[in-house]
Amino acid sequence: MRVHVLGSAAGGGFPQWNCNCPMCAGQRTGNILAQPRTQSSIAICGSDDTAWALFNASPDILEQIRRFPALQPGRALRDTGIAAIVLIDAQIDHTTGLYMLREHRARLPIWCTTPVQQDLTQGNPLFTLLEHYCGVDWHRIHVEDGAAGFEVPTLPGLVFEAIALESNAPPYSPHRDAPQPGDNIGVTVRDVKSGQRLFYAPGLLEIAPPVWDAMQQADAVLVDGTLWTDDEMIALGASKRSGRAMGHLAQSGPGGMIEWLDRLPKTTRRILIHINNTNPILDENSRQRDVLNEHGIEVAFDGMDIVL
Ligand code: MLT
Ligand code: MN
Ligand code: ZN
Repeated sequence: MRVHVLGSAAGGGFPQWNCNCPMCAGQRTGNILAQPRTQSSIAICGSDDTAWALFNASPDILEQIRRFPALQPGRALRDTGIAAIVLIDAQIDHTTGLYMLREHRARLPIWCTTPVQQDLTQGNPLFTLLEHYCGVDWHRIHVEDGAAGFEVPTLPGLVFEAIALESNAPPYSPHRDAPQPGDNIGVTVRDVKSGQRLFYAPGLLEIAPPVWDAMQQADAVLVDGTLWTDDEMIALGASKRSGRAMGHLAQSGPGGMIEWLDRLPKTTRRILIHINNTNPILDENSRQRDVLNEHGIEVAFDGMDIVL
C-alpha cells in the first residue's frame, strides 16, 4: 500500500491565517526552518494506483489534489482517483472539503460512524446540503460494539478496521465534552498482499487497550501530533482550552505520546500527523524536534509518501 500525506497540519493549517505565534510568525519571516502545511488528510491506495481512499476532506483539498496528480487520472471528461472517502470525525478541518467535491458525477461514497453522520446532517448539515449537488452515499462504520472491519469494493487489496477512540466531538456538536463512541475513530488499513498495516489516528486522547493493541500490531503508526505540551495554546494566550479538553494527547511529559511510542516494537515506524501551528516540533532546528529524532519519531509533512 501507498500512503500519501495530503495535509499534515491540524485545524487552521500552518501558518494559520491570523496567527503570530512564534511558529507561524517564524515561518512567515523565514526566521525558523519550517515547511508550511495544509490541513489534515491522507490518501491510501492498494494494488490499483488509480483508486484511492481519501481519509478526511480538508478545507485545503483542491490545493492538495493539484499537488498530487494521482488523485486526478484522465480517463473521462470528469474523473477522479478518489474511490472512497473515510471520515474519522466530523471536525471542520476533516469535513469541509466535501463541499469542494460537489461536482462529482455520482453520489460521494462516504464511510463514517453514526455520530459523525448525525453531526453532518444536523449541527453542520453538510450531507443535507450536498443533496442539492452530487449527494452522499453513506456507508455506516459501526464501532459502538467494538472493532468494525469493512472493505471498500472499489479499493482492491486493502481491508480496513475501525475502532472508537476517546477524543472529543467538534465544538458545534451536541456531543462536545460528552463524547459518544464513534465521535472519533482510529483506522487500521491492511494491505492484503504484503500483510503490512498502518494505524491512523490524527485525533487521539486516551490510548485505551484496543488502541494500544492496534498500535502494537501496526507496521507504521500515524498518530496525533497536535501539541507538544498540554497547555501550549493556553500558555500562548491562543486558547482557553488544554489539549486534553480538545481531545488531543500531547507529546511531552508523563503519559505523553512519546512515552507510548517508545514502548512500540523497535521496527514500528512512528509518525506524528495533525500538527498544530503552535507546536515547536514544526521548527526543524528546535530542541523539541531533536527530542523526537532521539526517540526515532518522524514528523509528517505535506507530500510525504509511506510505502508499506
Ligand atoms: C481539532 O482537531 O481539535 C481541530 O483541528 C480543531 C479545528 O479544526 O478547529
Ligand atoms: Mn483537527
Ligand atoms: Zn500559530
